Amino acid sequence: MACYLRTLPPAPSPFFLCSPHPRQTNLSSAAANDPVRSVKANASAAEVARAGDRGANKLSAWTSIRQERWEGDLAVEGHLPLWLNGTYLRNGAGVWEVGDIAFEHLFDGYAMLIRISFRQGRATGAHRQIESDAYKAAQAAGQPLYREFAYRPKPATLIDRVSDVVGLITGTVITDNPNVTVAQLGDGRVVCLTETTKSTVLVDPDTLATVEKFGYTDKVGGMLQSEHPVVNESEFLTLLPDLFRPGYTVVRMEAGSKERKVVGRVECQGGPTPGWVHSFAVTEKYVVVPEMPLRHSTSIASEPPPFVEVPPFMVFHFINAYEEKGEDGQDTALIVDCCEYYADPSMLHTLLLRNLRASTGKDEMPDSRVGRFRIPLDGSPFGELETALDPDEHGRGVDMCSINPSRLGKKYRYLYACGAHRPCNSLNTLTKIDLLETTAKNWYEEGAVPSEPFFVARPGATNEDDGVVMSIVSDVHGDGYVLVLDATTFQEMARVRLPYGLPYGFHGCWIPGKI
Ligand SMILES: [Fe+2]
Repeated sequence: MACYLRTLPPAPSPFFLCSPHPRQTNLSSAAANDPVRSVKANASAAEVARAGDRGANKLSAWTSIRQERWEGDLAVEGHLPLWLNGTYLRNGAGVWEVGDIAFEHLFDGYAMLIRISFRQGRATGAHRQIESDAYKAAQAAGQPLYREFAYRPKPATLIDRVSDVVGLITGTVITDNPNVTVAQLGDGRVVCLTETTKSTVLVDPDTLATVEKFGYTDKVGGMLQSEHPVVNESEFLTLLPDLFRPGYTVVRMEAGSKERKVVGRVECQGGPTPGWVHSFAVTEKYVVVPEMPLRHSTSIASEPPPFVEVPPFMVFHFINAYEEKGEDGQDTALIVDCCEYYADPSMLHTLLLRNLRASTGKDEMPDSRVGRFRIPLDGSPFGELETALDPDEHGRGVDMCSINPSRLGKKYRYLYACGAHRPCNSLNTLTKIDLLETTAKNWYEEGAVPSEPFFVARPGATNEDDGVVMSIVSDVHGDGYVLVLDATTFQEMARVRLPYGLPYGFHGCWIPGKI
């Protein structure tokens, strides 16, 4: 039984956070090809490779996995703490090419789950492709058949076009490729998912086998969900962007159930379609519903909750949130922290695989910062967005964040994230940020691509940063390892060598081992 997150109260209040922007952008255009370096849609794998590599090193981070599955013992360099007993699961992209078709965007890759298990200073590992309908259909047909994040199958005939429109409305052509999140529910079941509701799938955390579709039993409906549900030992909480009646539905599902129940709903404030909700924040009492200028691009187009207008923002990942108290102990504001790109959605374009694979030596990654929203609870219509610490502390790059899960929804001090050592074209460091001292400790190795640093607390720990941080790293030679850092000092403790470099992944979870 995992116990990552503090139990939320029974009915957090929806709280709406809206960011109007004179320049509305949709997801399709933000992730689209630029006119200069474009590779035609449905380009062959060789064409994309030529456009992307330009003779530069091809890191395993941006290269499809060499085989569908592997498992075995892993060599440990250094010393793993003996208390580290459990399994780290990480989800992400594994395959970007099928037949002659090569996906162009990082987010399109077919899901691959990785398991790294620790016990008594030793480690074993495994990886395996998740058998979504989209993946199985692509393997059978020799080409992708579903709409992915940026990829659209090209209709060959008029019938194909009609089928595509009908399939879009019914959801049948939209992917179920669950390549973003893996989470253990309070009842022990493990799910993987992406932003389509039909993607939620049960997996076996030991064998990594795809068990079955999760299959929500409620009538809530909706095709979309946040890619980052908030999961704890008692519930699963998420947002459902509503394309047909533009707004956002907040739903909760109790552990052991498959039935989501509506907690609340907010209508769109700044546009005809919902903003993209990759993640959202919760405090002990509130769910913060963000509305970005970056919107879903489809043209299908109670008492309102409190609405606060804030400066424009562009966020993939919220870090944490909590209630600010006045001297009388009453809540005065919500503090909501996030990895923010100065309202610039161009990072989606940076994540095109050809951009990631290219190494021009120029500084090509947009700046990001730890953004801190202050949302007043006194009825004021405007909130603030400030920079929590000097972005140069982490190389003007910050994303793929984690915190000590016991601090979720509460005031906290430390966050762990990928940062930047510039010039660079992707996040290439690990950073520990101290929000109290407004300083950062950084880990960097030339040519390495580290993925999300994941914090695991030492059992019995009382200090917030007492534990380890682990990250799966692709190194300059194309090899891979799991880096284990002391979360307090941010010094290296061990490297767990992988059999070969693995593709870049997104998010993970920790399943404590049996004592
Ligand atoms: Fe994410």
